[in-house]
Amino acid sequence: MRDFARCHARIEARDLQISRDGAVLLDVARLDLDGPGPTLILGPNGAGKSLLLRCLHGLIVPDAGRVLLDGAPLSAGHRARQAMVFQKPVLLRRSVLANLTYVLRRRGLGWRARRDRAAELLAEGGLAAKARQSAASLSGGEAQRLAILRALATEPEILFLDEPTSALDPAATLAIEALILAAARQGTQIVMVTHDIGQARRMGADIVLMQGGGVAEHGPAERFFTDPESAAARRYLAGALVI
Ligand SMILES: Nc1ncnc2c1ncn2[C@@H]1O[C@H](COP(=O)(O)OP(=O)(O)OP(=O)(O)O)[C@@H](O)[C@H]1O
Ligand SMILES: [Mg+2]
Repeated sequence: MRDFARCHARIEARDLQISRDGAVLLDVARLDLDGPGPTLILGPNGAGKSLLLRCLHGLIVPDAGRVLLDGAPLSAGHRARQAMVFQKPVLLRRSVLANLTYVLRRRGLGWRARRDRAAELLAEGGLAAKARQSAASLSGGEAQRLAILRALATEPEILFLDEPTSALDPAATLAIEALILAAARQGTQIVMVTHDIGQARRMGADIVLMQGGGVAEHGPAERFFTDPESAAARRYLAGALVI
């Protein structure tokens, strides 16, 4: 078991439902995320992973059900404790450095503290040499690293990531995994969607498998990968195209 800091935030989903045009897109009766290490969410295309993540982050209000953070319904105050990174990095059309100092200014840091913290983050993400470059000129992997640094600059207790490495090569993927695992070790609770089973094995302490809008299996990574309980998980791990 990796040495992750004990997380205190408890995310609970209760009876979440989203339907469109008569089709049930999300139907999660109960999901509790409060483990000490990263939660990795797996599942085929259209399983409802992104919808679930957006509900947990409060970007979508479900048709029914609720999300609780430490036992209380999600509120604007809670949202400030969370950050989300999307599959396509969302950046300001400014320099790499300005992307970070903007977030740090919004947190109320003075210029000296902003400069120091931005330098720390850039070093951590391997982007120090690119500080003055336009964010628009970064490669896909660099842009995604900057998007993660921007999210980390808000000092979130919980960081949601939706397939942050799906368009990246192995080296860029490993660099991003290292960045996320470093944040996890420092106590940030990680909830991340991936299609990459290898990535889930490398990073996950806790695995959620989604299928058809619902949770097919949720449990410790060790058990999920060695002795999965559900037929869906066994098929998924065996590489079945349809689970
Ligand atoms: N705004 C919407 N209106 C109608 N249907 C939607 C909407 N958003 C999502 N869906 C549908 O909900 C289902 C779940 O979508 P979601 O994006 O959560 O899937 P996913 O598991 O993230 O898939 P992927 O692996 O392809 O990213 C899909 O069938 C999708 O078409
Ligand atoms: Mg998705």
